Formats: sequence, C-alpha cells, structure tokens
Amino acid sequence: MLSDSDCVAFLQWALPRLRMRWPGFRKVRQQVCKRIRRRIGALELSGIPAYRQWLEDHPDEWEVLDGMCRITISRFYRDRGVFDALAADILPGLARRAKAEGRTLRAWSAGCASGEEPYTLSLIWHFLLKAEFPKLDFSIIATDADEHMLARARTGCYPRGALKELPEPWRQQAFYREAEAFCIKPSFKASISWIEQDIRRDQPAGRFDLVLCRNLVATYFDADLQRSVFTRIKGALRAGGVLVLGCHEQLPEGIPGWIPKTEQLYEASG
Ligand SMILES: C[S@@+](CC[C@H](N)C(=O)[O-])C[C@H]1O[C@@H](n2cnc3c(N)ncnc32)[C@H](O)[C@@H]1O
Repeated sequence: MLSDSDCVAFLQWALPRLRMRWPGFRKVRQQVCKRIRRRIGALELSGIPAYRQWLEDHPDEWEVLDGMCRITISRFYRDRGVFDALAADILPGLARRAKAEGRTLRAWSAGCASGEEPYTLSLIWHFLLKAEFPKLDFSIIATDADEHMLARARTGCYPRGALKELPEPWRQQAFYREAEAFCIKPSFKASISWIEQDIRRDQPAGRFDLVLCRNLVATYFDADLQRSVFTRIKGALRAGGVLVLGCHEQLPEGIPGWIPKTEQLYEASG
C-alpha cells in the first residue's frame, strides 16, 4: 500500500529527474499517485523502495513514469475571463490582421487534453465571430502527448460536468445527447486537426496567430525546460501573435521578446 506521504516523497525525488517541478503537482498528485500505485501492483513490487530500485535497474521505466505524470484535467470555457477576453478583443484583432493579409487565421492548443480547449475556441468562432469574418478560414491545431486523450477529443463526447462553464444556449445548439454524454456536433469539429506530439520535442509546422499553452508547461515543467519550450513557442508565433497561459501561470524569467498584455496574455514582439 502506497501512503500519501510515501508518494509525495517519491514524487519530490523523481520529478526533478524528469525535468518537472513538484509544486505544480502538489494539489493534483492523487491522479499520479493512483497510477503509481497501480503500476507497483502490476509489477508485483512491495512498495516505493522496490520501485526506485526497479527504476535504477530498468532505465526504460522512466518513460513509463513520465507517462504517468500527465495531469489531464480540463473543461470547456475553463477560466471564463480568458475566453471572454479572447472573444471580445484578441481574436477579432488577430482575425482582422489575417483577413487584411489574405491568409488563414491559425491557432494552436498545446496540451489540448480531451479537446475541451480547442472546441471552446471553435464554439467562440462559430457563435461570436464567424458572421463578422465570413470568408476567413480559422484553423485550429490541437496537440497532446497522450493518445488516449486525443482519441476522446476526436470522439468529442463529454459528461455534463465538463460543460458546466459553457453558456447554456451554446450547449443546446452545439451538442447532441448520446445516453448520458453530450457530444459535439460535426460542424464544430471541422476546423480542428489533432496531432499526437510531445511539446518538449516537437511542435506543429508553420506559424500561428494564437497559442494556448495552459496548465501544462508553466505548471509542471522545471524552469530550464519552460524557458526552452516558450522560446520555441515564440518562434512559432507571428510577430504580434498572442500566447495564452493558465490562470495561475506566468512566463519564466529570462526569455526576451514577450510583451505582457494581461496576467495571462503575452504578445510576441517582432
Ligand atoms: C492539465 S491538462 C490541460 C488541458 C488544457 N490545456 C486546459 O488548460 O484545460 C494538460 C494536458 O497536457 C498533456 N501533456 C502532458 N505532458 C505533455 C507533453 N510533454 N507534451 C504535450 N502534451 C502534454 C496532458 O496529456 C494533458 O492532456
């Protein structure tokens, strides 16, 4: 049996070796501890000391542990204020520029979980902005390292709780019922491409007007890894493009070229 304090001590030892930071996991550790408990059981080990020895004897196990350290919590319209700002100000500004330049408006949802975040962008576009920009193409690339999350995202069916922050008329218009689940209608899926990708190593091709990187890099990765990922994200943004962070996140110090617009929104300088 793995106690909470055993799990905490183990994570404080293991996470830095994976270039992750313990404070990000403090509140959500149960998700990870549950998986570690299951893994120790599946390997028929006696507990944490034996699992640490297993990691030493089987270096490939680090990759398994890395996979167990993915926090997958998300929901539609998470942090309402950010999506309100995107809808009212940021997206219309970016759309006007893309229209003037005669090109597609492009957004990247990095660490998209089961699709709640990119679908929220798609809903905002359909319900609030499409009528103003009828000829503009809006393309959303959604990436995640976890194939199971992406499979759920492609299916697009959710329990009611995942939709609780969504405006009620949108829920009624954009979803259909399948038993207990609420499934998003195909027209809201069309603008989204899903890619299995580890943000520590890869990123989607091309340049973006908007990148949402929320509740992933700035929460779970160590400072050096954060700096290298955000430097690459800056390279993927057009000058004047916007990066959105989660509501308890900030950019690490020591990476130039970002102009803060609000606490969670940063503009990429030229
Ligand atoms: C806490 S969820 C955040 C979801 C969404 N961005 C939000 O804020 O609601 C983090 C997501 O990042 C994914 N993830 C974790 N490590 C990753 C990595 N190295 N590369 C890409 N995605 C990763 C997880 O699978 C999970 O779906």
